[in-house]
Amino acid sequence: MQQVPDENARRRFPFPRPVDVAERIERAPVLDPAVRSLSDGVVRVLPPGPRTDALHGVPFGQPAHPALVRLPLGCWTSAALLDLFPGTERAARTLIAAGIAGSLPATATGLADWSALHRHQQRVGLVHAASGACAATLFTASLMARAGGFGRAGKLLSAGGLTAATIGGYLGGHLALRLGAGASHAEPIGHLAGLGWHELCRVYDLPDGRPVRRQLGYLSLFVLRRGTDVSVLSDQCAHLGGPLHQGRVASAGDRGDPGDPGDAGCVTCPWHGSTFRIDDGSVVHGPATARQPAFRCRITDAGVVQVQPRA
Ligand code: FES
Repeated sequence: MQQVPDENARRRFPFPRPVDVAERIERAPVLDPAVRSLSDGVVRVLPPGPRTDALHGVPFGQPAHPALVRLPLGCWTSAALLDLFPGTERAARTLIAAGIAGSLPATATGLADWSALHRHQQRVGLVHAASGACAATLFTASLMARAGGFGRAGKLLSAGGLTAATIGGYLGGHLALRLGAGASHAEPIGHLAGLGWHELCRVYDLPDGRPVRRQLGYLSLFVLRRGTDVSVLSDQCAHLGGPLHQGRVASAGDRGDPGDPGDAGCVTCPWHGSTFRIDDGSVVHGPATARQPAFRCRITDAGVVQVQPRA
């Protein structure tokens, strides 16, 4: 019988590989009650708005968590290495304290992103967060032990903290690189359409003011006709690939969220509420941080809509 590659890899290793453990966590419904209550709490504390957008990284154009998490990880790793050499106690303490301070913004941004993920991603994210919390606790205990004159215990606690942080880091990588949390899910779209103009559909086959999905080859496009004006974006939301044509469109007459005139002319993804400008795909609200690929449009004399990916 032919073996699939993953099965071959499993047989080569006599013990569970880290990725096997991570995949088991993805499929562990036992974590769901904790996921639900933490997720509800995060959504209550961080409702949609500018503060949550900033935590997602919308103003920076990419998720803020991966950048911020480097500070605690870097400081704690350096502190644990310094512990191997004599006369480095003061520097190690400073690095541990800096790492603990840096873990606070890293945790806030991580929780904001985590609250807008799919359930299997949230399970992995929960264990990732628990590992980070465990690391922060152990390094705090290490700092206290060192301050109390228990240097040897402090070093052991640091080693334990670094182990927990490394496990958390691995799961963070699994979440981002294997499960695609944080990456733009629409980035390849512009490259998949061939160069030049492509015929899409007849303009008056499109309903007025209601978005629909149209296929360009195997690409799904969000298409909105407003009178004789047609706007086209990738239909696959940059956040996690949600169907944008099923989202809510706010026109100039409908100012979207009360008190937020910036939502006029935008579409809001039905899955987690990312909001994009229909004209150019730019991000108005997260959790998405990457621009939605937009297409240039023109209508021929025969009434055919033609599209071309925007540079
Ligand atoms: S898929 Fe999450 S906001 Fe669109």
